[in-house]
Amino acid sequence: MLLQMENEDLLIRLRGVSMLREHKKVLSDVNLEVRKGDFIAVTGPNGGGKTTLLRIILRLLAPTGGSVEYFSGGQPVKRLSIGYLPQKNMTDSSFPLSVRDVVASGLLGIKVADRAEVERRTSEMLRAVGLEEKSGSPIGELSGGQFQRTLLARALVAKPDVLVLDEPLSYLDKHFEHRIYDIIASLPKDVTVILVSHEMTTIASMASRHVIVDHTVKECHSGSHMVHYDCSDECDCPECSATHRLEGQSV
Ligand SMILES: Nc1ncnc2c1ncn2[C@@H]1O[C@H](COP(=O)(O)OP(=O)(O)O)[C@@H](O)[C@H]1O
Ligand SMILES: [Mg+2]
Repeated sequence: MLLQMENEDLLIRLRGVSMLREHKKVLSDVNLEVRKGDFIAVTGPNGGGKTTLLRIILRLLAPTGGSVEYFSGGQPVKRLSIGYLPQKNMTDSSFPLSVRDVVASGLLGIKVADRAEVERRTSEMLRAVGLEEKSGSPIGELSGGQFQRTLLARALVAKPDVLVLDEPLSYLDKHFEHRIYDIIASLPKDVTVILVSHEMTTIASMASRHVIVDHTVKECHSGSHMVHYDCSDECDCPECSATHRLEGQSV
């Protein structure tokens, strides 16, 4: 019975995933199961493979080895509803689109009643991230933080089952950082979140699982480490304390 319930909750399964890039091993032997309602904080040193892992999970990148499977209700499925906030430097902001167009593009893959519904949901998200006044502005005119909020609104607008956020707090000032905590904290409990954060932050402390990516993927089971910036004294998890020290020094 328990086994069956666990399978019902399984959404994404990575088995033996590896990634070679230009003859370098970026990731090796990654085994990871993502379950409905998980909030997974992903940390690790720069260049450790966090963004690569997310893009493999999203199937935007095919791994050189292993498999990525999606499930719903215990059955394999072809697709899941996933919202994605890419890391800022991966996105071209010179493309001539308005803020509203970018946010509304998050609704393209799903069934929406009509144009009025698209307008309503887009406006609601623009309000949530504090960008109603920038609605008609070309994205090329935005500050880094405003652009980041535009992309977050796009990731959220379809109310996806899984949210994948790659360093959502970069470029944000403190005021909006808190607003984003609130938005994420108010998501329904069955929304699954995978969040990359390159340092120990408040947002990462909201997570139910902590994963360290440094060419391999390890799960840390210590409860105390994420809220401490340099947690080498606090974290008693032998697998990841070395990574934490590295993080603390490098930022
Ligand atoms: N498009 C690419 N082509 C070749 N190598 C890449 C590419 N993107 C990333 N890499 C390499 O993969 C490694 C991991 O990068 P990345 O996943 O971006 O790490 P992180 O997000 O943890 O900083 C780095 O060594 C990087 O140079
Ligand atoms: Mg990255």
